[in-house]
Amino acid sequence: MDYTSSLPQGNEKTFLVQQMFNDIAGRYDLLNSVISLGLDTYWRKRTLEMLLLPSNYSEIVLDLACGTGDFSKTLVNMNIKTIGLDLSMGMLRNGRNRQDCPVQGQGEMLPLKDNSIGAVISGFAVRNFTDLRSVLEEVFRVLIPGGRMAFLDVSQPNSKLLKTANNIWFNKAVPFLGGILSDKNAYSYLPRSVGYLPREAEFKESAKEIGFHHALRRELSGGLVQVFFARKQ
Ligand SMILES: C[S@@+](CC[C@H](N)C(=O)[O-])C[C@H]1O[C@@H](n2cnc3c(N)ncnc32)[C@H](O)[C@@H]1O
Repeated sequence: MDYTSSLPQGNEKTFLVQQMFNDIAGRYDLLNSVISLGLDTYWRKRTLEMLLLPSNYSEIVLDLACGTGDFSKTLVNMNIKTIGLDLSMGMLRNGRNRQDCPVQGQGEMLPLKDNSIGAVISGFAVRNFTDLRSVLEEVFRVLIPGGRMAFLDVSQPNSKLLKTANNIWFNKAVPFLGGILSDKNAYSYLPRSVGYLPREAEFKESAKEIGFHHALRRELSGGLVQVFFARKQ
């Protein structure tokens, strides 16, 4: 399938993103480690830390757009009740040794009750959501008061050197490696999808309008990735 022609919007984006992740699901974990040079494990750890979950945490945590379930596995290993929700059945099916509760669904329409979820975590999905504002509204609705959300995604580094290296890596190396190991079209789309990411001020403003408190954006590894964080009062 050709995902490269433009940056789709609305239902067209939902359909193409779903198709794309169904297509690449089988090799997603391998490509993810290769593309991030193994750093994704560290980034996930830091993102999870931002949720400040105590060791005996008894509320449910939602791994939103969980894919093959990397965050879910860590949460289950911490004995936390975990729901993993994703748009792509292929990604859900390709999660090895899943012990979370996998649900096929859309972040924009969570099949969950108001005030029922202790925390929401998400990895590399912000730019894939069809409508980030609706996702944030839904996350706010399902979180219990005091509940936190932390969404990890790629970013543009600040330093000129790192920015140049990052651009070469994402625009040249990643599509090349994707072509060898998985699907060239999909891995050409991924760097372009950075265009969907919100600016810090945009995220903070939306979060504030929705009712979140303490919305912030944190950069990791010199801005290679970023975490969008917010807390429901
Ligand atoms: C790059 S993958 C990340 C998977 C996993 N979170 C991780 O950290 O490896 C993005 C995931 O977002 C899912 N996704 C995209 N749009 C979505 C939506 N609107 N609702 C729920 N999941 C969505 C895709 O199906 C895909 O599994």
